[in-house]
Amino acid sequence: MKKFLLVVLALFVLTATGCFDTPEDVTDDLNGVEEENIYNETNDEAQLPFMTVEEVAENDGVDGANAYVIVDGIVYDVTDSARWTEGLHNDFQAGQDLTDEIENISPHGLDVLDNMPQVGQIVE
Ligand code: HEM
Repeated sequence: MKKFLLVVLALFVLTATGCFDTPEDVTDDLNGVEEENIYNETNDEAQLPFMTVEEVAENDGVDGANAYVIVDGIVYDVTDSARWTEGLHNDFQAGQDLTDEIENISPHGLDVLDNMPQVGQIVE
């Protein structure tokens, strides 16, 4: 009888631990989602706030202003990039549309934007 009870208890414990997420599991899941979605993945284009070219121009990175650049109608925040001190990067100033420059003049192309937060989309 004792043996039987032990087997039932063991089965219960095995089933229960397999079926329920521990709080750690849930946190892991959430962390996973957050990590995966960092920056651009979270920014479904449809949900990005609308900005005008004039608003972006105020974010030229000079004197403590945020540094925003427009590429293909999307506004990227380069404020925290060490390569955009005072909003300046290889003679290109933030606060404007640099689509042509990044595509045709920069050595790196568009890939570097993958790590930059998207903060808006341009509305005419
Ligand atoms: C003569 C033109 C340019 C040169 C020589 C240049 C050079 C570089 C270099 C060497 C890096 C380091 C990382 C890498 O190579 O992948 C970089 C990063 C980057 N560049 Fe340029 N770049 C130029 C133009 C532009 C333009 C026009 C943009 C417009 C948006 C731009 C945006 C960026 C961004 C967002 C990064 C990533 C910064 C970071 O990760 O902190 N670059 N660039």
